[in-house]
Order: sequence, then structure tokens, then C-alpha cells
Amino acid sequence: MKGSVKWQSPSNIALVKYWGKKGFQIPSNASLSFTLSNCHTTTELRWSKNENTDVSVYLDNVLNEGFKPKVTKFFDHVSELYPVLKTFKFDIYTSNTFPHSSGIASSASGMSALALCTCSLLESIGKLDKPFFEEASNLARIGSGSASRSVFGGLVEWGEHPKFDSSSDKHASPFTEAHPVFHNYQDTILLVHEGQKSVSSTVGHGLLDSHPFSEQRFKVAQENMAKLKDILIQGDLASFTELIESEALMLHGLMMTSNPSFILMLPNTLAIIQKIQTFRKQNDCHIAFTLDAGANVHMLYPEKDIDKAQKLIDTELAALCANGKYICDNVGKGPEQLEC
Ligand code: PMV
Repeated sequence: MKGSVKWQSPSNIALVKYWGKKGFQIPSNASLSFTLSNCHTTTELRWSKNENTDVSVYLDNVLNEGFKPKVTKFFDHVSELYPVLKTFKFDIYTSNTFPHSSGIASSASGMSALALCTCSLLESIGKLDKPFFEEASNLARIGSGSASRSVFGGLVEWGEHPKFDSSSDKHASPFTEAHPVFHNYQDTILLVHEGQKSVSSTVGHGLLDSHPFSEQRFKVAQENMAKLKDILIQGDLASFTELIESEALMLHGLMMTSNPSFILMLPNTLAIIQKIQTFRKQNDCHIAFTLDAGANVHMLYPEKDIDKAQKLIDTELAALCANGKYICDNVGKGPEQLEC
């Protein structure tokens, strides 16, 4: 008994950030993100019956021992929910559209693609008795929290919150009430630093357990989720800018005030932020920034500001990027199953 399945799944960028866990892969606060389009992972899962679990991971068709521990851990956890998985050998062929070393988190796209493949396998052997995408999001969360949101397109919410009906800590849900201005929002990722980040998000989340500001942070994040919901419905771009920039700086503020503290921003991260804010004031537009757990800057803007954004990139920002590199992306429709 053997077979294969293939999914393409995108990365996402959080507007209200998930930073801190309560228990195993349960977020301390709710979060909300844009699912991207061009930055995605394609993963083919080839499976065959075996005495016990065995995993091999190939990146761009080359055996990659570095990914094996994380993927093995994923199957160890998921096998607790679906013991049948303990009787399979897996060969996983994966590739990203963005350079592996670009500093863009590939865990959201990678883990969501793997979770979707796993759900397809479970479905094909008659072992999936839950709604497909909800369970794919649950499994993706087990691999990487933010990956739970990549299973859906558009705007996606994850984590219990009183203002979001059917919200759950276990899986994400699409947020479908947003104003049309957000349907084709743009994200230009300015690559300040190419390479692995110095502190992993697993370590960063853990430092919130003993962080002096953590309780206040979780409260503010929940409040920001409520505010963001209204902003998204109303299409209030000025308030949107204010909120997402504050969230990005708060995330990095938490890193800088952890014990031990760490700084993931680089001098050019700050230079880009300042250029964006100055340009916005002088050019009557809604170009804003957010940050992931790294030095790169995500420049977010509505479709109507594309020309202004390109001018800003060409005249000021490209020069501040590593090797002048940036990636143009926009809100995407979510994962897609492909032919093997
Ligand atoms: O999914 P993780 O464990 O890699 O954490 C992601 C954390 C941030 O990217 C910084 C924020 C978020 O909500 O995506």
C-alpha cells in the first residue's frame, strides 16, 4: 500500500502578533494575518506502509538532514492523534518559491503544506472524521503556530477571542467580513538580512513565560484584535496603519526586554521604517510597515498606492536591502492541491 499527495501552501504575515504560548502550541493571545500568494512552499508526501515511522526530507530534490528532526517531531505529535501514521514510511519532497536563506520564515508555508498532505493521506485511507481544512489547520499548528493560519486564504484569525465567533485555540478560521480595500492588499518584503535569524521563535516564545510585561502584552493583543476587527470592517486605513506598526514595534520591544534580551532588527530595518513613515506623511498615502521575527520589513499598502510604493522602493528603499533584493507579494487565496 503506497501513494502520494501534493500541496502548495503560502506563507502569511501577522498584523496582530502571536508571541507567547500557554501550554503545548496554545497561543497566549489571538492573532490575525494576511495569507500571502507568491511566497509559498510546494510539498509532495510519498507514503508507503512500514513496520514503524521513518522520515526522509528532500529540499529541492536533495536529501536534507537538517529538516529531519522537525518533521519527525511533527509526525510524532500527530501520530498521538492518528496512531495509524506510526505504520508509514514518508518521503517528503519540498521546495520554496522564496530563497531558503532569505530570512523569510518558511515554517508557516512548510508546516501548513505538510499538514495538508497529511490530512489528504488520512482522508484517502478513511481515517479523517473532521472537517478537512479545520483539521489541517489544527495539525499545522502542532508543527508551527503561525502555520495554522496559512491553511486559509485572505485574512485569517487564530486563537480564542470573544469578538470572533467560532474562534479557537486549536485551529484558525478565515475572517470574511473585511472591507474590499483589504482584498488585494500588497506586501513588499524588503530583505534587509539574508540568512538564518540569530534567535529562533521557539526560544522567543519561551522567554514570554518569565517576561515582566507578558500579562500586559496579552491583554493589549486581545484589545488590538477587537480594534482590528472594526478597522477591517470599516476599511479605516489610517487606524490600520497605526495599529499594525504598533504591533510590530511591540513584538520587537518584547524581544529587547526579554531576559536574556535580543535584538533582531538591524540598522537598515530602522532606516527603512523611518523612510516609510516620512514618505507617508509627505505623500498622502497608506504605506505602512510590519515586522516578523527578523530584520526584514514587510511594507503593506492598498492597491491604489502601488505606484507610490514603487517610487519609494526605487528611490530610497532598495538601496537599504541586502544586495538590493525585495519580494513583491499580495494577499492570496490560500493553499492549492496539485497533481503529483
Ligand atoms: O509560528 P512560530 O512559532 O514560528 O511563531 C511566529 C511568530 C511571529 O511570526 C513573530 C508572529 C506571528 O503571529 O506570525
